[in-house]
Order: sequence, then structure tokens, then C-alpha cells
Amino acid sequence: MITIIKADALYSQNLYRLEKDIFGKDCYSLQSIVQELSDASRIYYVAMINNEVVGYIGANIIMDYTEIMKIAVSQNHRQKGIAKALFKELSNELQTSGVKTINLEVKHNNIEAISLYTNLGFRQISKRANYYGNNIHAVVLSKAL
Ligand SMILES: CC(C)(COP(=O)(O)OP(=O)(O)OC[C@H]1O[C@@H](n2cnc3c(N)ncnc32)[C@H](O)[C@@H]1OP(=O)(O)O)[C@@H](O)C(=O)NCCC(=O)NCCS
Repeated sequence: MITIIKADALYSQNLYRLEKDIFGKDCYSLQSIVQELSDASRIYYVAMINNEVVGYIGANIIMDYTEIMKIAVSQNHRQKGIAKALFKELSNELQTSGVKTINLEVKHNNIEAISLYTNLGFRQISKRANYYGNNIHAVVLSKAL
């Protein structure tokens, strides 16, 4: 069974392990994960299966506006609705706290993520050419809550 839990700094090691598996050399350092999870302006949720962290979502709240920093699900547990469940939990909390808009940036060639966000009701508002390096553009997506 999948359980979605609000994460604090106690989850840093578990989250770092998953982050390394998924993003390899581009992963956040353990130190930055500890900082993220300790920062009052950040919200993180983790998805657990049998006490193992298999996914997470993180957001940065800036007044009534929020930016999703990351969403990721372990390779072995993809396409089971975990990312959607993580977003739903985050979105419920943001709505309750009065957040009106969620924005995010995603690589233009990240088909799975763009499909996920479109499915969740995000729409493209702009594009930043070469934002992630040569010929890798950022697509900026937004959703009103
Ligand atoms: C993007 C990601 C988080 C999706 O996680 P997931 O748990 O597999 O997603 P879900 O099962 O909740 O799927 C939700 C929707 O996402 C889209 N989606 C997920 N996997 C997909 C795939 N392989 N191809 C196309 N669309 C896909 C679909 O729209 C899907 O809706 P549907 O089931 O109704 O078709 C996952 O692929 C991942 O961790 N990727 C690597 C990390 C990453 O790139 N994160 C985003 C940038 S930080």
C-alpha cells in the first residue's frame, strides 16, 4: 500500500538515496536536502511503500504563489499513480493555505513530466531557450488553484 506523508529533515537520508538513484550526478547533495527539509518555506511529501521512500514532491511557497522544485518516483514504482497522489496531497495543503498559483520549470524534452503536469491541469505560459544548456530549453508551466 502507498502512503503519502509530510516529510521533515528526518527523511533526508532516504530522500537523498532516492534522489541519487534517479538524478545521478545531477542530484541534490545530502546537505542541500537537509536544508530544504528544514526550511519553513518549503513543503515536501514522500510516498512510502513498506517503509521505503519511493517518491517525493517538493515545493517552495512564496506568499500566495508556489513553485514546484521537484517531483520524482523510483524507477520500479512508476506509472502506478504515485506522482499524481503526491501532487494531490501537496495541492490540498496549498489550497488550504491560500496559495493561488503553482508554477514550475521542466526540460522541454522530459516527456513523462510534461505529460504528468498537463494531465494535472498545468498549461505552458512561457519558454526559456537554452535554460538547461545547449539546446535544452525550459518550459514554464502554471496552474491556478
Ligand atoms: C515524471 C514522474 C515523476 C511520473 O511519476 P509516476 O508516478 O510514474 O506518474 P503517475 O503514475 O502518477 O502518472 C501520472 C501521469 O503522468 C504521465 N506519465 C507518467 N509516466 C509516463 C510515461 N512513461 N509516458 C508518458 N506519460 C507518462 C501520464 O499523463 C500519467 O497519467 P495516466 O496514468 O492517466 O496516463 C516519473 O516519471 C519520474 O520520476 N521521472 C524522473 C524524474 C523527473 O524527471 N521529474 C520531473 C522533473 S523534476
